[in-house]
Amino acid sequence: MCGIVSYIGNKNAADVLIEGLTKLEYRGYDSAGIAVFENNKVEVIRSVGKLFNLKEKLSNNKLFGNIGIGHTRWATHGKPSFENAHPHYSDGLVVVHNGIIENYVEIKQNLLKKNYEFSSETDTEVIAHLIHSLYSNDIFKAVKKALKIIKGSYAISVLSEKEPDKLIVARNDSPLVIGKGDNENFAASDIPAVLQYTRDFIFLEDGDIAVITQSNINIYDINGNKIKREVKHIDWNPVMAEKAGYKHFMQKEIYEQPRAITDTIRGKYSIETGNIYFEEFNDIIKNNNIEKIHIVACGTSWHAGLIGKFYIEKFAKIPVEVAIASEYRYGTPLISDKTLFLAISQSGETADTLAALRIAKKNNAKTITLCNVVGSTMTREADGTIHTHAGPEIGVASTKAFTTQVAALFLFALYLSEINNKLDAEKRKYYLNELILLPEKIEEVLEYDNEIEKLAKKYKDYSDFLFLGRNVNYPVALEGALKLKEISYIHAEGYPAGEMKHGPIALIDKSMPVFVIATNSSVFDKVAANIEEVKARDGIVIATLNKSNQDIKEICDDFITVPETVEELSVFTNVVVTQFFAYHCASLLGLDVDQPRNLAKSVTVE
Ligand code: M6R
Repeated sequence: MCGIVSYIGNKNAADVLIEGLTKLEYRGYDSAGIAVFENNKVEVIRSVGKLFNLKEKLSNNKLFGNIGIGHTRWATHGKPSFENAHPHYSDGLVVVHNGIIENYVEIKQNLLKKNYEFSSETDTEVIAHLIHSLYSNDIFKAVKKALKIIKGSYAISVLSEKEPDKLIVARNDSPLVIGKGDNENFAASDIPAVLQYTRDFIFLEDGDIAVITQSNINIYDINGNKIKREVKHIDWNPVMAEKAGYKHFMQKEIYEQPRAITDTIRGKYSIETGNIYFEEFNDIIKNNNIEKIHIVACGTSWHAGLIGKFYIEKFAKIPVEVAIASEYRYGTPLISDKTLFLAISQSGETADTLAALRIAKKNNAKTITLCNVVGSTMTREADGTIHTHAGPEIGVASTKAFTTQVAALFLFALYLSEINNKLDAEKRKYYLNELILLPEKIEEVLEYDNEIEKLAKKYKDYSDFLFLGRNVNYPVALEGALKLKEISYIHAEGYPAGEMKHGPIALIDKSMPVFVIATNSSVFDKVAANIEEVKARDGIVIATLNKSNQDIKEICDDFITVPETVEELSVFTNVVVTQFFAYHCASLLGLDVDQPRNLAKSVTVE
């Protein structure tokens, strides 16, 4: 997804912009560019492809100015090309933009009538010319007028050579933060872009327009009324956003899971009493006689939601529906004021999940978001937030965000069971004890890294995989398959093991490895029977097992023994094996693990 960085201060703006854009590479992009004000004019440098192309151009054409805007583009309107790369220019005025302008054709027609010439196919160039057409002597006023005309989603940053002492930034349905420095200021689409310079951030809300100078930040609404936005201090350490010696961010993030889970569950329970603390939801949940829960999310977060349903229905006995956000938003979900709507999103910015949240709010549901990014749009719009404390997740393939979501859902289900009187304190204590032991057990799984790499060496050249799991581990099969396909480009399907005989079994032969989640569980015998079915058809079986259920190992081609835990929590130890497996396959195949082709970290367009 596109990335924005803007700077005003005493530093070399080009350096700050390039460094910031590098930090945003994880979002995925296909071209990049910067504009810097120097020698009384704006210089624009753009290139197709990765940032090193832009850096190469810059090394032949050094820029020395102290104010500038930069962008990494992920194509929506018009193919990836030099002409379509941002910043877009209109007679000394430059704009970078994330989002989609829905009425750009109509605006373009009007601008063509005024003799504006277009050099790109983008909706962004329309913004540049529109602002220019409305400019008399105040860039802020011109941007404000333009935004009243524009319909759609945007985060923009604007620089004009007529008023080179300021940047104008604005947002609607696309994230934008302002970093407050000491005699310098920043704007970016995501925190890591400027975290090395400041930890103080203002999160713009939809409709906000900010005028940023070197020493001031003033924020206005669309009518020009001044508004106040809180400055929030972010604890993330810049080092947390670096690779810290690992080959890839994804590998680092797999290793961070024990710490991330500990941070996520910390302070939310008492092991002595079995009480769970989500006091912030007492009003929302206790006073509203919640009858059902809708969990809505996309991708990996949806898989976490499927596990959440299992936990909530088992512990709290509340009916839960889990929906993919892009389906929910265009379906006819039955929502009432007795519905609790839970949006799960690592980024808190995913367009479909956000749209679903807004629909739920409109229909009077009580809304909560389970989110990893403080200050993100969903956290601001939902009635309440459960924060995961995974820290910045840079790899496009989600790992620690998933396990922290599941850990938080486990606690949340126990909390609901307490409110509902469906699980007594002793049972809750039992489950809490198991949860507390989990980070250590995951550490043990991390020790199998090399062993799983050997498996990856053996299997990386197969072109199709089937992942099977049952019950709470069915979503792990889905997640294992998603991880493998998104980073290694190997085709993989996740299936409930019992469903195999209703179709996928036709695919089984020597060329199709079947990855089976076969740790101890209430359905272990059934899963063992499914393994037999695969072997009877000459299939290849890779399985996760526990020490206590190794009888089946004789018929498995390969297996990894993970530490024993209660069935409900076995998803954690199992999923780490599938994460490593996908990671090593992709890495051994020499692929771009952290930025797989065609994918974006944060999908902020529909
Ligand atoms: O930020 P979100 O959790 O809302 O993102 C949802 C999906 O886009 C995300 O989980 C995606 O499926 C990842 N690439 C999975 O690894």
